[in-house]
Amino acid sequence: MIRLQGVRKTFRAGESAIHALDGVDLEIERGEFVAIMGQSGSGKSTMMNIIGLLDRPDEGAYLLSGRDVAALDEHARARLRGSAFGFVFQSYSLLPRMNALEQVELPLIYQGVRNRRRRAAEALVRVGLADRIGHTPTQLSGGEQQRVAIARSLVVDPLVVLADEPTGALDTATGHEVMTLLSDLVDQQGMTLILVTHEPEVAAFAHRSVRMRDGQIIEDTGRSGAANAEGSAPIR
Ligand SMILES: Nc1ncnc2c1ncn2[C@@H]1O[C@H](COP(=O)(O)OP(=O)(O)O)[C@@H](O)[C@H]1O
Ligand SMILES: [Mg+2]
Repeated sequence: MIRLQGVRKTFRAGESAIHALDGVDLEIERGEFVAIMGQSGSGKSTMMNIIGLLDRPDEGAYLLSGRDVAALDEHARARLRGSAFGFVFQSYSLLPRMNALEQVELPLIYQGVRNRRRRAAEALVRVGLADRIGHTPTQLSGGEQQRVAIARSLVVDPLVVLADEPTGALDTATGHEVMTLLSDLVDQQGMTLILVTHEPEVAAFAHRSVRMRDGQIIEDTGRSGAANAEGSAPIR
């Protein structure tokens, strides 16, 4: 469903060039749960931004469901971004004055979808927040705020949910609860999830892990979860 081929992205900082992505090949199928790991600065967020159509590759191909999306104009990219991807961030990115139901309705308003209230309420039920729909962020715990953000990412029925360090702001126990929820959404509700983390305990929830270093993929366990280098066939 997602196919990156030879993707490069370079940032300029004064005289020097930073090769944030230095020839990345990656394929992810529907229903996968992939953890992207690697040290700070290894290119994880840059890759997620390209996959989520928040940024473009300088070189290489990006095919989404077989369609070349690297070449789309800004308007088409924005439309596709809103319908194909759900985003979850470390910081939750909720709006301060809106209650949970209103936060989750927002992406549906942008898309002009009908039955918004009902769909938003259903998404909140899926994340276990049926009894918190009228609460604003300050009335919710960190874990609950992240679950609102997860509901907001799901409500459009995206192809893929992209989560960049979703447990980064949570204590261990709450992070574990959020990961259990995300795992259930993948295993029981057919969500496709790509998650960035530097914590092995968080990555352990995923079916597959991809490790980056200096803008390259240096290890990819494949769907079986058995470690192997360079994305070759899984070793069993
Ligand atoms: N907008 C940007 N401008 C300049 N350099 C950037 C920018 N975004 C990322 N970088 C650099 O690219 C490299 C990869 O960054 P990033 O993808 O954020 O890594 P990670 O998410 O793995 O920490 C880092 O060296 C970072 O400083
Ligand atoms: Mg990052």
